Order: sequence, then structure tokens, then C-alpha cells
Amino acid sequence: MIGAIRGVLRAGFSVIERPFERLFTPTLNPLAQLGALGFFFFWIVAVSGIYLFIFFDTGIERAYQSVEHLTWDYRFHAGVMRSFHRYASDLMVVMMVVHLLREFSLDHYRGVRWFSWITGLPIIWLLYVSGITGYWLVWDKLAQYVAIVSSELLDWLPIFGEPIARNFISTGTLTSRFFSLMVFMHVAVPLFLLFIMWIHILRISRPKMNPPRTLAILSLVALVAVSVWKPALSQGQADLATVPAEVGLDWFYLPLYPLTGIWGNGAVWAFLGAFSLMIGLMPWLPPLRRAKPAEIDLAHCNGCARCAEDCPYEAIRMVPRSDGMPFPTQAAVNASLCVSCGICVGACPSSTPFRRSEDLRTGIDLPEYSLKMLRERVIYAAGTLKKPGRVLVLACEHGAAAGRLDATVVMPCVAMAPPSLIDFVLSRDLADGVVVAGCAESACYNRLGVQWTEQRFARQRDPYLRARVPRERIATVWASPLEMGKAQSAIADFAAHIADLPPMRLRSPLPVSAVSRPGKNREPAELKGDS
Ligand code: HEM
Ligand code: SF4
Ligand code: SF4
Repeated sequence: MIGAIRGVLRAGFSVIERPFERLFTPTLNPLAQLGALGFFFFWIVAVSGIYLFIFFDTGIERAYQSVEHLTWDYRFHAGVMRSFHRYASDLMVVMMVVHLLREFSLDHYRGVRWFSWITGLPIIWLLYVSGITGYWLVWDKLAQYVAIVSSELLDWLPIFGEPIARNFISTGTLTSRFFSLMVFMHVAVPLFLLFIMWIHILRISRPKMNPPRTLAILSLVALVAVSVWKPALSQGQADLATVPAEVGLDWFYLPLYPLTGIWGNGAVWAFLGAFSLMIGLMPWLPPLRRAKPAEIDLAHCNGCARCAEDCPYEAIRMVPRSDGMPFPTQAAVNASLCVSCGICVGACPSSTPFRRSEDLRTGIDLPEYSLKMLRERVIYAAGTLKKPGRVLVLACEHGAAAGRLDATVVMPCVAMAPPSLIDFVLSRDLADGVVVAGCAESACYNRLGVQWTEQRFARQRDPYLRARVPRERIATVWASPLEMGKAQSAIADFAAHIADLPPMRLRSPLPVSAVSRPGKNREPAELKGDS
């Protein structure tokens, strides 16, 4: 059931994202920058909030007047800042919800990756509490409505001795102290939110916390345009002698408020509790089958730290050398953070398929899918190819080409294949061309696999693809599992191009003894990761 919902959502995102990628380029695709945009809008809310505070009077009597004053008398700076503050916080909700759905659709929340998901739950609560307390401060009719409904909701819980809704019976009962508490909360809760946002990304390396500059400028321009077109305004001063008859709601922050009148407070709490429980349990519904984590082979580790640099999940640390070898450090894997993506294997300078030894060893390897197995599978798959135009496909198990049956070697992430493997395939005449086929460019399942592969091929990142490897014989295809057709036709076009090329000048053909039948590619059920 959950798998089916995930599939539908993923299809939906895929349909929306491809035009976005064409319009903005994969790097600027806003759907691939949602977390970064969330941070960006947080900073806008924080800066505009500090600016508004200069003009704001925290006393209950004067709060409304001070907000009116800044909105109308200083409309070109403080007024605009008020709109910025309002709309950027609305956008934070939008970003958060779409980000949650996208991470869910990409299955980025189970197994070792539960941490970011679970820390997302307090983020949802804290963001809502920040927004709702903000509405109280304006002390207009909407604030009055929010204050009454919120306190009735809180009173339903057996926490407070005295019902707090009593504060809002008349002007006399609402004290400035209570109002000051709200001001304090509206400052303290967002600070705590920022702290949890920082925790949220602790277990991933190089988190995208700043959107690309063009996207940031476009978002700012859009905010300015909306602020000018529809400035944030108050809805008439609160009057505790009357019940607000009709107020314009902010549907981003207050969608449940009308439901308290229809369902009752108990039902709204039940809904919130069920939602939180569901989010809290989801990483284990069902749990992800965990492959064994990467292991270090100290005899082949020179402490170069490339694996630690490339690991997308902060799973590798460099620690002092323990085996007396003349290197200051060695790599150490934190098994509880490792998702077994194999990207470190592709980064290690010892991962050299050219080594003649039968037992191919490297500095860091996956116990269940070693470099040796990868080399064997490559050699075997290449052996099934027919001339002319022999094309071998190295495919990520999360991308479109994973389902291909012909001459395709599937692995947890294409960045597991060191560039020397491609050199090996071409220079040993195992194939006439190699396709590296991974996830869609802006939706890499292992976050950085596509990026590292591109950079290694472009000679911008160690380990480089050597200059001697003929580039016209290598193609990359980035496509999600829903784009099988696109991947197949790209591979077919490349095969036709390879067939037209003159034969390669060979350096060192493979000895016949190296070609033996390897274990199979991983089974599809195993690849999906459901237990
Ligand atoms: C304002 C709210 C939020 C902000 C600013 C935010 C920010 C971020 C950022 C910057 C990343 C790293 C993205 C990357 O570089 O790949 C991230 C990842 C993630 N977030 Fe959020 N997030 C928010 C809310 C949430 C919520 C509510 C959930 C879910 C309940 C959630 C779940 C995740 C997950 C599952 C990941 C991916 C971790 C991975 O790839 O292993 N986030 N978030
Ligand atoms: S397998 Fe992936 S997650 Fe594990 S240590 Fe290597 S790069 Fe990091
Ligand atoms: S990349 Fe290889 S050699 Fe370098 S630190 Fe990691 S395991 Fe050791």
C-alpha cells in the first residue's frame, strides 16, 4: 500500500520535474532545492522579523497601532518587510510539504536515512507554532480568532490548571504579561526551529543549504512582486467585546482551525496525534533491507581521505593510523550511517580493476558486492555482446536502466564504478562503448552519485577518468525508472554511433582466463529494498 502511494507520487513528481529541468536546467530545478529554499526563506523571515521588531510595540494596547503604523507610514520599507515576513513564512510551509512528499516519493526516509525524516516531525510542529504565535501579535480580528481557537484547543488537553481561554473573555482579563509571553514564544520557537533544522541535516554530507544564486534571486523577485501586488494587511483591531464574525484565514498555517468548529477539539487533536504517529513510524513501514556496510582493508588504504570526501552520508571518518604503516591516517566506517551505496569504492585510488591478482582487493569495499564481483560481472556481461557496436551499460539500481537485461551491470550507484573500470572495459576490448546510466540528474537516490560521476569524467574530481580513454565511446544517461523509453532510446542511439566509429587501437586485451561466469546481478526484489 505505502509502496503504491510512493509509486504514484514519484510518477507525479517525475511528470512535473522533467519540464522544470528543461525550463530551469537540472541544477536550478526548484524541486531539487526544496530544503535549500526552506533555509533561504527562513533567513528572509528572520531578517524581516528583526526589522519589524524595531517598529513593533509589545504592549497589548499598542500592538495593533504599531503594526498599522509600520504598514502605512513606512510602507516602502517596513510595510514591504511585513509582506516579506508573511509570504516567506507561507512559502516555508509550501517548501516543507513538497519537500516531505518528494523525499517520501524517492524513498529517502527508510533504513539508515530515518534520521532526517524523524527530525522533520518536530520541524513541522515548530514551524506551525512559530506561524500561529505570529498571527497573535498583530492583535487584529484574525489574531483574536486565532487566540480564542488556539486556547480552546489547548484547554482541551489536561495540562493547564486554569483554562487559558478565560484570558480572552474581555479586555480586562487579557494581561500584557500574557501578550509578552506570546512575543517571547514567537522569537524563541523559531530559534529552536533553526536548531532542529541544523540537527535535521547532521547526518548527510554537503547538505544543500543555499539555493543557487539565480534561484534565490528569482524567489526574491517573486516575493517583491507579491508583496507589492497584495501587501500583508491587518483585519481591523481585535475587540474582545465582540466575537469576530468573518476573518480571512491564512490557509497555509491555519487549515485546521475551521475544523475545530466542525469536528470538535478532541477530533482535531486525534488527527494531529495520528498524523505525527504515522510520520514517526513510516521509516519502519516496512523496514528497508540493509546490505552490509562498507569495510576498510587497511593493507590497501593509504589514508588519502577521498572516500570520506565522497561519502554522501557522513559515514566515513579519518582516524589516526593503527597498523604502523607510514601514513598519518586511515579511513573508518561508521556502520550505523552507511547505506552501502558503494560511492566510496569508486573513490578509492586502490580500486583498480587492472590489477591482475585473482582476489582483487581495494581500500574500502562492500562485503555483499565487492569490486571483484563488479569486475567479474562486467567481464561476463561484455562477453555476451556481439560485434559491431558492442555497448556495455553500467546501471544504477535506482535508475531507468536497472531493468535492462542485455549487457547491463547493475550496482547500488553508478559512482561505485571507478573511472578506471571504464578504461579497463575499453582498453581490454571488452566493449566498443560504455553507457553509464543513473538516476534522473536532479533526483540522485544517493544524493551525490550523479554529481561525482560527472566530475570524475570531467577530470574535476579524483579519481579522474584518464585522458587516454576515448570520450566519444562513453555516454551518460540520467533517467528515473519512469523514463525507461528515454533511457532505451539514448542507449540505442549511442550504440548506432559506436557502430559507425572506426575500430579502436587496443593496448592490452584481457587474458582469456579472466572470463568466468560471475554471480548474477542483484534480484529486482532485493534491489527495491523491501524486506
Ligand atoms: C522547513 C523545513 C525543512 C527544511 C528547511 C529542510 C531542509 C533539508 C535539507 C537542506 C536537506 C538536505 C537536502 C540535500 O542536500 O540533499 C533535507 C533533507 C531531508 N529532509 Fe528536510 N527539511 C525540512 C523539513 C523536512 C520534513 C518536514 C521532513 C519529513 C518529515 C524532511 C525530511 C527530509 C529527508 C528524508 C531528507 C533526506 C535525507 C537524505 O537524503 O538522506 N524534511 N532537508
Ligand atoms: S557505502 Fe556509501 S554510505 Fe557507506 S561508507 Fe561508502 S559512500 Fe558512505
Ligand atoms: S579512498 Fe581508499 S585509500 Fe583513500 S582513505 Fe579511503 S579507503 Fe583509504
